[in-house]
Amino acid sequence: MEPSVGGAAPLVLVDRRDAVALVTLNRPDAANALSKGLVAQLAETFAALAEDKDVRAVVVTGAGDKAFSAGADLKERRAMTLDETWAFLDELNNLMNAVAVFPRPVIAAINGAAFGGGFELALACDLRIAADTAQMGLTEVRLGIIPGAGGTQRLARVASVAAAKELILTGRRVQAARAYLLGIVTEVAPAGALADAALRVATEIAAAGPLAVAAAKRAIDGGLDLPLADGLALEAACYEEILASDDRNEGLAAFAEKRPPVFKGE
Ligand code: COA
Repeated sequence: MEPSVGGAAPLVLVDRRDAVALVTLNRPDAANALSKGLVAQLAETFAALAEDKDVRAVVVTGAGDKAFSAGADLKERRAMTLDETWAFLDELNNLMNAVAVFPRPVIAAINGAAFGGGFELALACDLRIAADTAQMGLTEVRLGIIPGAGGTQRLARVASVAAAKELILTGRRVQAARAYLLGIVTEVAPAGALADAALRVATEIAAAGPLAVAAAKRAIDGGLDLPLADGLALEAACYEEILASDDRNEGLAAFAEKRPPVFKGE
């Protein structure tokens, strides 16, 4: 694994596995808490990966076996003024939004505790796969605050309003098995097999037509808050974009020739 950015302080590691990028939050001694430095490096990493068309799916995980991310760095937070806290929240929200609209799918491999901003990062991803030992929660009300990086909005959309209210209003932490029942995670894997499980899904996505995958992500996300007729119009617009692509012709040709397609993203 190579430090992605940041020179002497590799707070984020990026490991390329063919068309999949494995991004690791690398502050294991601080439960991968989201310090200003980590947030900045993550933002730079996602910006760089967005430009790299050879990356067709991203997996995000945390270093170590304890935490995906324990959320905002509460030690750093204590020393911040209100203005600084507000500015940091802006940075955090920019990061979450960049992950959410990342042009290819992003999968969170939740390897341990995912609390507060750590869970919000996972919620900004397209899919979540958890280790059977993982726990997650939006625990902010227990600290006298509320989720400030999209949690109140994204948990209600990913799971349900009821799940969001239960978890957010109590600040309760749930185990991976319950998160699966609530629809928050799509798969629970034995801790030692989590990375493989996430990379398997990412590799499956990476083998599909990249333009199609990107368009499908935009159609799903963009349609969430639209009336059905507008959502269907968005789907049609996304379909139209790829109708004239080489990849579509390649998909049809490969089917006729009984061979795997070779998509170029064109
Ligand atoms: N910010 C800054 N440091 C954090 C942190 C956070 N959010 N969460 C954990 N750490 C630090 C701990 O202080 C500890 O540092 P230390 O060794 O210098 O004391 C280190 O990370 C390891 O944490 P520790 O609690 O000893 O490990 P653990 O495996 O027993 O528990 C957690 C890990 C994540 C379950 C636990 O630390 C926790 O619950 N953290 C608080 C998470 C939280 O409430 N986040 C909400 C933010 S809104």
